[in-house]
Amino acid sequence: MHDASAPAADAIDLNQVALALSDALDLVGVEVVQHGKRVALLAAGVARGLGLPEDDVSDLFLAALLHDCGVSSTRVHQHLVGELDWDGTPEHCDVGARLLSTFGPFRRVSEIVRLHHTRWDAPARTAADPATARLANVVFLADRVDAFLLTRRGEDPLLAREPVRRSIGELGGTYFSEEVVDAFQKVAVAEAYWLSLEPHHVERAILRECARARPRPGPPAVLRQLAVLFAHVVDAKSPFTAEHSARVARLAALLGRLSGLPAETCEKLEVAGLLHDLGKLRVPDEILEKPAPLDEAEFAAVERHAFETYQILSRIPSLADVAEWAGMHHEGLRSTGYPFRRLAEEIPVPARLLAIADVFQALVQRRPYRDPLPPADVLGQLRRFVEAGQLDGEGVKLVEANFVACWEAATGRAGGFATLRVM
Ligand SMILES: [Fe+2]
Ligand SMILES: [Fe+2]
Ligand SMILES: [Fe+2]
Repeated sequence: MHDASAPAADAIDLNQVALALSDALDLVGVEVVQHGKRVALLAAGVARGLGLPEDDVSDLFLAALLHDCGVSSTRVHQHLVGELDWDGTPEHCDVGARLLSTFGPFRRVSEIVRLHHTRWDAPARTAADPATARLANVVFLADRVDAFLLTRRGEDPLLAREPVRRSIGELGGTYFSEEVVDAFQKVAVAEAYWLSLEPHHVERAILRECARARPRPGPPAVLRQLAVLFAHVVDAKSPFTAEHSARVARLAALLGRLSGLPAETCEKLEVAGLLHDLGKLRVPDEILEKPAPLDEAEFAAVERHAFETYQILSRIPSLADVAEWAGMHHEGLRSTGYPFRRLAEEIPVPARLLAIADVFQALVQRRPYRDPLPPADVLGQLRRFVEAGQLDGEGVKLVEANFVACWEAATGRAGGFATLRVM
């Protein structure tokens, strides 16, 4: 057994990071939680039924955990788990594969994700490497098993077992290879296979599976690469938030440097910026895109995102600081923010800077209920937030003194502020 919880010195354990990020992806289902994890467990079982080598099982497990990383829209997710052949299906395979292919160690995982809705009898499948195509077919089958199970939600999974086995059996030779279906039928006899999918068993089953997986230590730099990848997933959720995380990260790191924070802290601050809104994946699209003030229930759905982010990042012990800062990006300084209701002295400088970067960037973006703010109005707003005890005054002074650079970091556009008086 490999000990996935003890990577060497400063190495990052990619399995652990992937698991945390799958927590984020699982939020997209809103009420359909843990989809990625159930698919990973179902797929790993089939892989063992096929007698695949451990390396293949590990790649498959990771691909299954991350298979829906091309989906950040709650609407799209509903179609995908609800329909066998939805018209929009190929897009999320391509988007997910493209994202994962940007990260070297996940190349094969990316290829599996690209093919994870390709029927076994489709010509496209034959163009792929046969071993990888087979792994993708396993993910496809596992995904459909979970979709069938979701139609029988609330029922004892042991009662769903036979109907699901029959439904999958009917798709052998067309959607799925006969060999993969046979392996599934073999492992699907066992009660434990189904019971481990129940919400209170999933986490432990996943940790067991992770402990068996091939260790994937990576240098600390991979963390930033993975954070960039996931910032894309979050920012793709709505056209209104395009590039939000990436730009918050850039501005937060700039503010860190301007504050004289050590380089290592600035790097972590950038990662916190990239990942601060991971929890937003759970907010239904209709709420994020509502062109009017939110009602109480809608605000509650939005407000929880900071805590969700904190929980996801807390899974990675080496990211304790990042989890803390990212989780606090909506804290005020007088116990008026959320979700922890901290007081000023309980909020470290990097978290304060991140909060400023978040507000700044949001103000310069279009929102469904307002236009982007011009530079002078951005400063006015930031100052009002300082007066109200919501943002840190020292940090906002830094913004004032370096406004052009901050504007460029937040918008990606050069300023042209010849006539702007910022002080
Ligand atoms: Fe899926
Ligand atoms: Fe946020
Ligand atoms: Fe944000």
